[in-house]
Amino acid sequence: MTKPVDATTTDAWAELAQLKQNLEPDLRAWFAAEPKRAADFSFQLADLHVDLSKNLINHDVVAALLRLAEQVDVAGRRDAMFAGEHINVTEDRAVLHTALRLPKDAELTVDGQDVVADVHEVLDRMYEFADKVRSGEWVGVTGKRIETVVNIGIGGSDLGPVMVYEALLPYKQDGLECRFISNIDPADVAETTRGLDPETTLFIVASKTFTTLETLTNARMARSWLLRTLADDGAIDGTDASKADAIAKHFVAVSTALDKVEEFGIDPVNAFGFWNWVGGRYSVDSAVGLPVAIAIGPANFRDFLAGFHAVDEHFRTEAPGTNVPLLMGLLNIWYVNFFDAHSHAVLPYAQYLHRFAAYLQQLTMESNGKSVRSDGTPVTSQTGEIFWGEPGTNGQHAFYQLIHQGTRLIPADFIAVANPANPVKDGETDVHGLFLANFFAQTAALAFGKTEAEVRAEGTADEIVPARVFEGNRPTTSILAPALTPAVVGQLIALYEHITFVQGVVWGIDSFDQWGVELGKKLALEIAPAVFGDAEALSDQDSSTQALVSWYLANRA
Ligand code: F6P
Repeated sequence: MTKPVDATTTDAWAELAQLKQNLEPDLRAWFAAEPKRAADFSFQLADLHVDLSKNLINHDVVAALLRLAEQVDVAGRRDAMFAGEHINVTEDRAVLHTALRLPKDAELTVDGQDVVADVHEVLDRMYEFADKVRSGEWVGVTGKRIETVVNIGIGGSDLGPVMVYEALLPYKQDGLECRFISNIDPADVAETTRGLDPETTLFIVASKTFTTLETLTNARMARSWLLRTLADDGAIDGTDASKADAIAKHFVAVSTALDKVEEFGIDPVNAFGFWNWVGGRYSVDSAVGLPVAIAIGPANFRDFLAGFHAVDEHFRTEAPGTNVPLLMGLLNIWYVNFFDAHSHAVLPYAQYLHRFAAYLQQLTMESNGKSVRSDGTPVTSQTGEIFWGEPGTNGQHAFYQLIHQGTRLIPADFIAVANPANPVKDGETDVHGLFLANFFAQTAALAFGKTEAEVRAEGTADEIVPARVFEGNRPTTSILAPALTPAVVGQLIALYEHITFVQGVVWGIDSFDQWGVELGKKLALEIAPAVFGDAEALSDQDSSTQALVSWYLANRA
């Protein structure tokens, strides 16, 4: 592993600091002075039209950001990732989610493994299985076709499938639905299985490691629920053979640890593998996407993967000045490191993307929430901003106030589609048009604000004027797509994957490990005996934890 360049020591960093110091953001004036500003800063990325013009940038800033990318060798790191070098240094692994969407005729051999052949072997098995479920050829233990697929997973084994399933609901086959269990709170299993018919339910247990406490606990609860409810209905006779048969028909698994899948009691024939070079949060395009493939069908899933691949190719080959993931990643650096932005809002004006922000939180924050660089030295600047958001006008009536008039700069990405899945007219009003009017209005209001003169011209009383002035110069990026197709969803995910990558390279961190999650997992297991009443284990805890656990023990029924 080559030592990461310390971005803060580069000429470009110093230049950016200087540019920031001299910058007087004035989007009104900039737009007035540059008639081509929108065109100059708008780009096409596969199906996505991306407008960066309402950001606090000028051509000098973009040039300096691109020099920064050169000086920290983003292109070299990118090529190393695509080639399968072990850029995940703390786990000594390749990072090859981009290989999951390579077409069948592509070639890539990594560590002696024909990656493309392996990927397509699993995809073909997934598609065959998905077709069987969709056609009714795959039946439950009593011969009934599957109507509900319940995915049990957490983190990357949940957020990707649930987000994409929700995003592509209009593509779902009628008569089939997916549900998702992730939280170890037993309420999740109880509510998600409520009302389900065990005879028509298929569980997918998705876990890269097949050791995750939440997933295995939930899978065991689901298995008990299945066997109990089938027995209650008289659908199985309760013998070991009938139970094994029921599990074989109602449980499949997705994992890199196929031996552990078998130990759990799931037939390896019904398991779909992937590889340790696929990070959990980068895995929805692997077998982890199985619920999506079942719901939308193989043809749509192929389009979904092709969407990722189009963006991969853009990121890999497009010149820096028009390379959208590169530019957006660098913009995030500009705001985090030069404007001290702490967070980044992602605001989809598309209800179907209502889980997109939650998905991005894992992708971006588990990737870039790091304070040491990949060579073990401390980072030299701020890293990982907080990503958050809500869809559409819901956010306008909740937290936009703070984005418009708060004291913090919050860069925001606005995402919308031109053609909705459900075009509706309310009388003469095109409702989606009305929805998008809000999208356009918000980005304009954030950029251009409302001056004191404008407020006064409305006859506002003097004492209220300051409260009604909008400074403007709140940066936004607008992303428009023709429609929320499987390909577009793939493109959006790949775009944010590569943005995250670019930021990680500039910060010199390993964006592909997640050691920070480990401590909590370990402590939960250590504290569990105390929670179950072991006095000695309780006395090993700090005084606050002891008091909290004691309160719990005293107050539980
Ligand atoms: O939260 C840590 C993590 O390892 C994530 O990166 C991963 O997506 C999640 O746990 C679930 O892990 P697994 O798929 O191995 O069950």
